[in-house]
Amino acid sequence: MHSAIVNPKGTWWVPAHKSEKIWVAIAFAWCMVLFAMMPLWHFKGGQNPAGVRHKVVPATYMARVQEFAQQYQVGEDNGIPVVAPPAGSDVYLIGMQYTWYPVLRLSKGASYTLHLSSLDMNHGFSLYPLNINFMVVPGYDYGLRITPNQAGDSRVLCNEFCGIGHHTMLGRIVVVDGDNRAMPATPASAAATPAVPSAGGAQ
Ligand code: CUA
Repeated sequence: MHSAIVNPKGTWWVPAHKSEKIWVAIAFAWCMVLFAMMPLWHFKGGQNPAGVRHKVVPATYMARVQEFAQQYQVGEDNGIPVVAPPAGSDVYLIGMQYTWYPVLRLSKGASYTLHLSSLDMNHGFSLYPLNINFMVVPGYDYGLRITPNQAGDSRVLCNEFCGIGHHTMLGRIVVVDGDNRAMPATPASAAATPAVPSAGGAQ
């Protein structure tokens, strides 16, 4: 029987054994190695996004995306413009509750600078079935230099919880073999009435 004022029987309060101290020292040293790896990886690691990034006002970015979409629109997919920019150009994609805008159609083997940003809050850019992930943050424009190396029809899933409609936030990036502007996804009549959400429309 023991209480708060009567010590229990045992040995846990005796000084640590030498081997225990060694293990604590090893664990601490390893912690320090991992701690040092964070700044080291920033400078030496290969995980930093290649390209340019700078601050941007979300509404300004949205206006830039709309301008881009109107400039290179070739069709429409469920009310979202299908945009086919020329090789070497700046390509804009914006995440917002609960849409990726616009639908991109790119050429395999061509290089682009893919700009990613958000209108409202953090979203996760996750290209399926390819395994490419990137966090999309409002206020920052990430210009990633990309060269699609395989043709296909991929979905952009949001992998960052962003609200009640998070699971419905689905976008699309199509990579075609050859000229991405050659074959419109929909009849020309659909392209005549671009659907453009207003900047700042999402709450
Ligand atoms: Cu956007 Cu979850």
